[in-house]
Amino acid sequence: MYVDKGYNNPYTGRNVSGEDMKEQCILTASGLKEYVKSLGKLRFMAVCDGFLQKEAIARLEWLKNVVFFSDFAANPDYRSAKSAAELFREKNCDGLIAIGGGSCMDVAKCVKLFAMLDSEKSYLEQPLVNSDIPLIAVPTTAGSGSEATCYAVIYHNGEKQSITQESCIPDAVVFASEALKSLPPYQKRAGLLDAFCHGIESFWSVNSTQESCKYSDTAIRLVLENYRSYLAGDDTAAENMLRAANIAGRAINITQTTAGHAMCYKLTTLYGIAHGHAAALCLYRLMGFTALNTDKCIDPRGREYLEQTLSLIAAAMNCENIDAAAGRLGMLLSELELAAPNARKNDLDILVHSVNPIRLKNNPVLLSEEDIERLYRKIMIWGD
Ligand SMILES: [Fe+2]
Repeated sequence: MYVDKGYNNPYTGRNVSGEDMKEQCILTASGLKEYVKSLGKLRFMAVCDGFLQKEAIARLEWLKNVVFFSDFAANPDYRSAKSAAELFREKNCDGLIAIGGGSCMDVAKCVKLFAMLDSEKSYLEQPLVNSDIPLIAVPTTAGSGSEATCYAVIYHNGEKQSITQESCIPDAVVFASEALKSLPPYQKRAGLLDAFCHGIESFWSVNSTQESCKYSDTAIRLVLENYRSYLAGDDTAAENMLRAANIAGRAINITQTTAGHAMCYKLTTLYGIAHGHAAALCLYRLMGFTALNTDKCIDPRGREYLEQTLSLIAAAMNCENIDAAAGRLGMLLSELELAAPNARKNDLDILVHSVNPIRLKNNPVLLSEEDIERLYRKIMIWGD
């Protein structure tokens, strides 16, 4: 038995430290001032989504000499991150606050890392070094968990650049439920599903550890216990959803995601659906597939271990077994009115060849190209 069932909810809401992770301080909105004061920093740069800047300026009025940066788009490019790092230097900033969604976190993480490098050379061609510039994250979406991971994604000449550096994990996170108030309902639904998928995919990843499994278990339970009240506008549930997303982020920071995420990326670009929506559509079918194919287990801990993990996932979802758990996810998608997009026959080939084989290596069972094709046939609604 590799997964220890006999633990209490590991999430205390403050300074949770994992074996595999650096400490991250969890703050309430009112605790932010005191935390900033304790850092003794003189000048912060606030990286924030453009539409939030006005509100951020008002809320950070107490923070003297703050420099704002909002000149970046969703899926930010290298140029934006470079300009932000240059502004950080030019204004002699020594601290960072990121207020926004995943793209904002990506830019802020890049600034934290790039500010340590030689500005005369391309930042992407230099080895990354540890950065002790404090970074405080104020997530305004509950889903990606980007504020808990050591990954940043930026685009350079249209190519995706993945940056991984332990020290870019934000030092502190503010759970401000009011920041989620302005989120469109579809983004809320897709976001909570993203956190849920992170919980499950991390749970069964071949890279899972006892620590990551604890995070996964907690995140899955928190999402299911809170999603209805969260969508109805309840503040406590919103805070719990921020917590769930953060914990699920910690889980994938250890394990990375698996086939569900590998298969979902093309759905977002081909059909314009949100990332969490696409991930849940793929995971729903993948759960059923995994339950039926434990004999294809590639986790070195073996088939029995995988079957135990699937039972633990089912238990976290309050279901009798993994088949019932897959059914529960299907019902959740229906309840949230998140249907599969209509696909054209020609899309099948594009979808099958879009899957990143590296992510498949994290998956607990082997997936052949035929398996992936069969799965997509089930995931999508097929037209002519
Ligand atoms: Fe995700």
